[in-house]
Amino acid sequence: MTKLEQDSRLDRIGDRLQRRVQSTLRSQRVRDLLHGVPLGHPLHPAMVQVPVGAWISAAVLDLLPGQRRAATTLVALGTASAVPSAVAGLNDWAGLSRDQRRIGLIHAAANAIGLTLYAGSLAARLNGRHGTGRALAYLGLGAASAGAYIGGHLAYKQGAQVSQSVSELHRMGDEWQPVADLASLPQRELVTCEVGDVSVILYRHGDEVTVMLERCPHQSGPLGEGEVREIDGHACVVCPWHGSAFRLNGGEVVHGPSGTDQQVLPTRVVGGVLQTRLP
Ligand code: FES
Repeated sequence: MTKLEQDSRLDRIGDRLQRRVQSTLRSQRVRDLLHGVPLGHPLHPAMVQVPVGAWISAAVLDLLPGQRRAATTLVALGTASAVPSAVAGLNDWAGLSRDQRRIGLIHAAANAIGLTLYAGSLAARLNGRHGTGRALAYLGLGAASAGAYIGGHLAYKQGAQVSQSVSELHRMGDEWQPVADLASLPQRELVTCEVGDVSVILYRHGDEVTVMLERCPHQSGPLGEGEVREIDGHACVVCPWHGSAFRLNGGEVVHGPSGTDQQVLPTRVVGGVLQTRLP
């Protein structure tokens, strides 16, 4: 897997596919929906539960007598639901870093082979060739399982679509810590500072101050170098790297590619000094 991460030969196909995905999925609203922005959580891992669950269930039913119809129904459900899951995955994939995209390409290829085998299985079953349908389904399950293994590497080893900011919290104590004099903070401007060795951004609006982790949850971009923009009536910080936007009054993600919210920290003011701590 490490060799694949470093294999630049995959970039020719990967770069072309990335351009194709980006030119096809142009609507910000559609892209946000596929990233899981309305949920504040990536959509692709939730969507794949349907095809994986249906295909594994069909594999069990294929071992039992008198379950042809039920197994065919589950193969059809899995095959149909794999298509939108794949679209959501491609949308996430197009916003990954280069080494993640290489592994993502292999993940997508294994799943595409699985999907093709299941489509063949469905066609065979509908034509009464249940033995062929079963064999193709088991091959498809093998390919999809390989895809799942590679997807696990992509998510858990490479951290694709995993919040890159939340680990910052592990380096903070849970006692209140001073951040800045309230009077020194400018109105409606981003200020970056350190709490211990964790970088945060401050945004003052009247006497309300938001303290938010500075590392973007998408790929650690510096939100402190981003711009503040009004989106849907809310002040948001827009990441300078890939344009994810987060509400400054709560951290909710309003535009991807981040599929997760940004962490806002609790605040209090004691003697004119703004303090923060772990949520
Ligand atoms: S790092 Fe990609 S949107 Fe912030």
